[in-house]
Order: sequence, then structure tokens, then C-alpha cells
Amino acid sequence: MLTSSFLLTVILLALTSTASPVVTVRDSLIRLPFAKRVYKAGLLSLHARDQVRVHHLKALAKAKSTGQPSTHAATTVVSVNATNSVVDYVLDVGVGTPPTTYSLLVDTGSSNTWVGAGQRFVRTSSSVETKDRVSVTYGSGEFSGTEFTDTVTLASGLVIPSQSIGVATRAEGFQGVDGILGIGPTDLTLDTLRPDSGNTVPTVTDNLFSQGTITEDLVAVSFEPTTSDSITNGELTFGGTDSSKFTGKISFAPVTTTSPANEFWGIDETITYGASGTTILAETAGIVDTGTTLLLIASDAFSLYQKATGAVEDRNTGLLRLTTAQFAKLDSLFFNINGTTFEFTANAQAWPRALNTAIGGNTNSVYLVVGNLGTPSGEGLDFVNGQVWLERFYSVFDTTNRRIGFATTSFTNATTN
Ligand SMILES: *[C@@H]1O[C@H](CO)[C@@H](O)[C@H](O)[C@H]1NC(C)=O
Ligand SMILES: *[C@@H]1O[C@H](CO)[C@@H](O)[C@H](O)[C@H]1NC(C)=O
Ligand SMILES: *[C@@H]1O[C@H](CO)[C@@H](O)[C@H](O)[C@H]1NC(C)=O
Repeated sequence: MLTSSFLLTVILLALTSTASPVVTVRDSLIRLPFAKRVYKAGLLSLHARDQVRVHHLKALAKAKSTGQPSTHAATTVVSVNATNSVVDYVLDVGVGTPPTTYSLLVDTGSSNTWVGAGQRFVRTSSSVETKDRVSVTYGSGEFSGTEFTDTVTLASGLVIPSQSIGVATRAEGFQGVDGILGIGPTDLTLDTLRPDSGNTVPTVTDNLFSQGTITEDLVAVSFEPTTSDSITNGELTFGGTDSSKFTGKISFAPVTTTSPANEFWGIDETITYGASGTTILAETAGIVDTGTTLLLIASDAFSLYQKATGAVEDRNTGLLRLTTAQFAKLDSLFFNINGTTFEFTANAQAWPRALNTAIGGNTNSVYLVVGNLGTPSGEGLDFVNGQVWLERFYSVFDTTNRRIGFATTSFTNATTN
């Protein structure tokens, strides 16, 4: 995972009146300054906002049989709802027998699933402690503990016996959530266990597939823009896609061959601005990440974007700021991914204005969700298409075919913000 709490960190740093956050790339991870000091600053409203609230977890079981090979009598598609709490998408996940419910971040940028950061792990009859210690470092925190196998219930009808999960004895950088549901590429779990460091840990998606619950090893993500601070408006589907959540067809792109983006759900893309096609970012590799809030682009691309839009950096929010008059003239960004162009509208580039004050902004300005990655392009991971991008395009993470798909949705052109 790269920057699970990127926005949070930006906001916190801004409110403690420090300069822009320092972002460095090391060992292919982007590490942000640790946000713990913020709590010492006692920013109560933000702290409250940071409490990730979890809402409903529900299951839909659908049968889908569109063009599946006959060996797949019916492709099982199971949907679960996710909650958008502004900075993170979280899901209620049950672990144990009977299950205890944990609120987990939905993260395509990491692949270990673990609990115990907030709510402590409750051991039940199905909990089996392994001999392995587990530890994972994230962009904004880390956890360590013991690896267990246990029954994981994502939804009724979506139950995984003997899922390998981490149980944290120590977790830093996670406020208001109990852990992570890691649905990134399986190889990201290499070296997370000791002494079993040479083995990968199958993700929940892998196990659903190998146990025959789903017939394709893929997960699809539907997010929607929101103007409220907590709402259940995301949906994950395991094993197939939910055609009610997208329009047109899904265009696929291969997972990039460029390192380090190829270790994640990485793709190659080009970004241009406006009808004139001003290049913001020439074709390069980056990642798609549900654990990142903003759309992050390499620092040189960010400068070009700032120049093209006339935006100024806002100290209070850590975001770019426009006047409403400038916003009226803002053009679309165009993303070209494997030959398909996706238009990211002016409205999509705006932070929901109803939430301006929630991030320390004022009601008369428009804040932009395009953020600075903090390192120049050419480093093999030059953008992160985070939640704000995924709220406009449906996404499909296809492990079997090593490809990622995108489609427009009824929210692609929405003027929500
Ligand atoms: C998911 O959320 C949507 C919108 O709130 C709701 O209509 C739907 O019933 C929910 N699905 C399940 C399985 O609960
Ligand atoms: C990328 O686009 C090419 C040309 O349209 C297409 O043939 C190929 O299948 C696409 N890649 C994937 C992984 O779908
Ligand atoms: C969004 O608007 C653009 C420009 O008006 C249009 O070409 C495109 O088809 C629309 N996309 C969707 C998904 O409605």
C-alpha cells in the first residue's frame, strides 16, 4: 500500500501549520511523515472526522452467465457494500465462529488481511494460531503480530474457512479502523511472515477462487462521489462485475511491466489537459489504489497542472485552490489507458464543496483533488489513481489475466461536487 491515509496526513500537516508534506520513495513504498503528533495537537473536529464509521455490510448473490465457458456453469458474483467515510473506504468483515465484526480498510494497494488495530481480536473455536509472526509496513503506518487462520465472513454466502489473517499485537497509524482487507496482488505478501518468509499468503480473493466460491479470480470496485462525510456508497464484487454499476463496456489494460508499479495494480497511462491536449504526464507507469484518497501525479506533472489551471497551493487544506471564476473555466483531464480515453471532468477534479470546511477550507473556494506525488516522473510509479478517480470510473482487478479494467459509470459526468 502506498498512502492509505494520504489525505488525512496532508490535512493534519496543514492544520499543524507545517509546510507541505514531505513524500519520499524508498523501497518502492511511499512513506509519509507519521501523523501521530497531530493527536497531540488536539484537533478534535478532525480527529472526530477521522473516526471511520462503518455501516452496512450486505450480501447480494447473483448468477451471471454472460459468455462464460461452459465449464463454468454459472459465474458466482457476490457483492458487498463499502462505506465512504471521506478518507477511507471501509468494510465490515466477520472473523471467527461466531464472527466478530471488524471494520477494515478496502485496500488494493496491499495484500495482507489483518485485524486488531482498533477492536481487539476475539479468539473463537475456528481461530488457529500459526507459528508465524507477521509484520507489514505501510506508507502511513505499520502493524505486527501473529498469523492465524480463521473463518472470514465477507457477507452471508461469502465465507472463507481457513483464511490466513494477521492478528495485530501492535499497530500504528490506523485510527478508527480495525485493520485492512488487502486485495492487492498476492506477491505483495512475500516476506511478511517469519519464519515462512518465502511463501505468499493467499488473499481473500485467491481463497474464494481456489475454494470454488467464485469462478474467476477477480474483484471489481464501484465507488461513487459523495458530498456527505459518511455514506455507504461503495460496492465490491468478487468473481465478476456488476453491470448495474457501469455504463458501456469495460476496457482492459495489461498490468504494467514497469517497476515498481508492476508490483501493485499498476498500469501505463498518459494524462492531458483540455481540448488542446496539453500534456500533463507523458505515458508512464503508476498504480490504481483504493487506499489512496486523491489523484496523485508526479511533481513535474503537478507543476504543469497547476500552471494550466492557475491554481494556488492552499496552506489550510494542503490542496490546490481555485476561485469559483477559475473553476468555471477549468477543463477536463484526459486519461489515455491502453488506447482508451477516460475524461475526468472539471467537477471530478473538485473536492466536494459541501465538505470544504470539514478539511479546513472556506466555502467560497474550490479545492482540487489532484495532489502532488512528491517525486518527479520517471521513477516507475508516477501517479496514483486513488478514490477520487475510482469514484468516476468502475474498476476491475483481474488476477487471472493480469489486467485491470475500467468503465464509465452514471457518475463519470456527475456534477456532485
Ligand atoms: C447496498 O447499498 C445500496 C445503496 O445504499 C442499497 O440499495 C443496497 O440494498 C445495498 N446492498 C445490500 C446487499 O445491502
Ligand atoms: C490493450 O489494447 C489492445 C488494443 O486495443 C488490445 O488488443 C488488448 O487486448 C488490450 N489489453 C488488454 C489487457 O485487454
Ligand atoms: C460525459 O460527457 C462527455 C462530454 O460531454 C461525453 O462525450 C461522454 O459520453 C459522457 N460520458 C458519460 C459516461 O456519460
